[in-house]
Amino acid sequence: MAPPSAVPFTAVVLLLVATAAASAQLRPKYYSQTCPDAERIVREVMRKAMIREPRSVASVMRFQFHDCFVNGCDGSLLLDDTPTMLGEKLALSNINSLRSFEVVDEIKDALERACPGVVSCADIVIMAARDAVALTGGPDWEVKLGRKDSLTASQEDSSNIMPSPRSNATFLINLFAKFNLSARDMVALSGSHSIGQARCFSIMFRLYNQSGTGKPDPAMDPEYRLKLDKLCPLGGDENVTGDLDATPRVFDNQYFKDLVAGRGFLNSDQTLYTMAETRDYVRAFSKDQIEFFKAFVEGMIKMGDLLSGRPGEIRKNCRVVNSWPVDILLES
Ligand code: HEM
Ligand SMILES: *[C@@H]1O[C@H](CO)[C@@H](O)[C@H](O)[C@H]1NC(C)=O
Ligand SMILES: *[C@@H]1O[C@H](CO)[C@@H](O)[C@H](O)[C@H]1NC(C)=O
Ligand SMILES: *[C@@H]1O[C@H](CO)[C@@H](O)[C@H](O)[C@H]1NC(C)=O
Ligand SMILES: *[C@@H]1O[C@H](CO)[C@@H](O)[C@H](O)[C@H]1NC(C)=O
Repeated sequence: MAPPSAVPFTAVVLLLVATAAASAQLRPKYYSQTCPDAERIVREVMRKAMIREPRSVASVMRFQFHDCFVNGCDGSLLLDDTPTMLGEKLALSNINSLRSFEVVDEIKDALERACPGVVSCADIVIMAARDAVALTGGPDWEVKLGRKDSLTASQEDSSNIMPSPRSNATFLINLFAKFNLSARDMVALSGSHSIGQARCFSIMFRLYNQSGTGKPDPAMDPEYRLKLDKLCPLGGDENVTGDLDATPRVFDNQYFKDLVAGRGFLNSDQTLYTMAETRDYVRAFSKDQIEFFKAFVEGMIKMGDLLSGRPGEIRKNCRVVNSWPVDILLES
């Protein structure tokens, strides 16, 4: 994955920062009058999805990051391509990687049955991400709601902004700072990798050719590396997946304990412990789960406040904007 090119990225960030005040509109219990059961409905569909396929809730939780960092939390990530618009689903970091979009569709269907045209897809992403964490043993918290869905998406912005698994802590600190998120926020939010999986594709370079050295990443625990070498042999199927931490179905601070032990899956994970700027946070979270949970919730709320300030709507179908001929698409 190519590093972000500076120009479009800067433009996007300036837009975000200039309009961050729009987050003032968000508030808890936004749907208490218009759709009082909304949060219960989302939680229930997520619970069923988790029973059906435990990983799906992690996959849905990841949507918040990939939605909010690209022109704000506006549900743009969920839009399918159209003949005139390349959506974000096929952007560099998303293609063959983001999954479980059908869970969001199920949530949307249930909400449209209960209160048609009221709950935005952007808010569904925020509620579902919170529920994924709560359902897997992590903290539960009140989310601010009232987002509108975007009328468009940008594959280019997504490809330029979303970080590669090769990223190091310095790069990630700078990236998150552009979104007003601190190094502590970034480390805590990386703790989302306490649940879910990633592909061999994302770690081949660090197993066999870290930074072009022809050697593996020296920061890896040798036993763990052997395990990953078996899972991801050179020339093997790079779509095979491995667990992001030792307890991939439980949201806990095991992820940080693993980093301290050199058992981080992604380079971007392990570097949080290897590099001095972030090591103390990793160590603290590995020792104190409550502190991790607190920092994580703060980070999720701050990330959820990112808004583009562009005009929006309440989409009827999370995959298409309302002006698009929905009926034709659904019938085909
Ligand atoms: C700090 C920078 C981050 C980087 C570089 C990063 C990168 C990645 C990569 C490369 C994968 C696996 C993709 C694949 O192999 O298909 C992944 C998975 C995941 N990411 Fe991140 N991520 C970051 C931050 C976040 C944040 C902030 C969240 C959510 C708040 C998040 C949630 C997840 C989850 C839950 C998964 C597992 C998804 C699944 O099992 O389907 N990540 N991430
Ligand atoms: C971290 O990543 C950046 C951007 O890819 C790179 O320029 C820098 O040299 C890296 N730092 C270290 C210490 O590897
Ligand atoms: C950045 O975060 C600080 C502290 O959380 C907050 O006071 C400030 O308003 C934020 N700025 C923007 C542009 O979001
Ligand atoms: C390792 O990476 C370097 C630089 O990216 C490349 O020139 C070299 O061919 C790679 N080696 C292998 C064995 O893939
Ligand atoms: C993974 O599978 C997809 C199809 O599902 C394929 O297009 C892609 O090339 C595969 N990627 C890798 C890295 O093997």
